[in-house]
Amino acid sequence: MSHGNMNLTLKVWKQKNKNERGRFETYQAKGISPDMSFLEMFDVVNESLINEGKEPIAFDHDCREGICGMCSMYINGRPHGPKEGITTCQLHMRSFKDGDTIVVEPWRSAAFPVIKDLVVDIF
Ligand code: FES
Repeated sequence: MSHGNMNLTLKVWKQKNKNERGRFETYQAKGISPDMSFLEMFDVVNESLINEGKEPIAFDHDCREGICGMCSMYINGRPHGPKEGITTCQLHMRSFKDGDTIVVEPWRSAAFPVIKDLVVDIF
């Protein structure tokens, strides 16, 4: 694609609330720059979902600097994705390839129930 931007397929866990059963939704992430962070990629996807009148993907974040841990999620079955020792907000899209399918799940555990989509109750 032009300027080395990537088109990706996302399979993201969507769940309305604690009591409802969730399921994977498929989204297209188009024109993603390799320099974006994983959360910035979500921002782009959410902007187009909102423009289409669809519900954005709910995810947690605070610092976006790798400090708070709020952005914790499972990416392709691994905590925080393919890179060891970095948080999702510090993960760059250059860690993925054009055309990749990325599976994104909440930070699941019995102690941390899912509140909505990728947002878990950590308190
Ligand atoms: S948003 Fe704070 S560690 Fe990622």
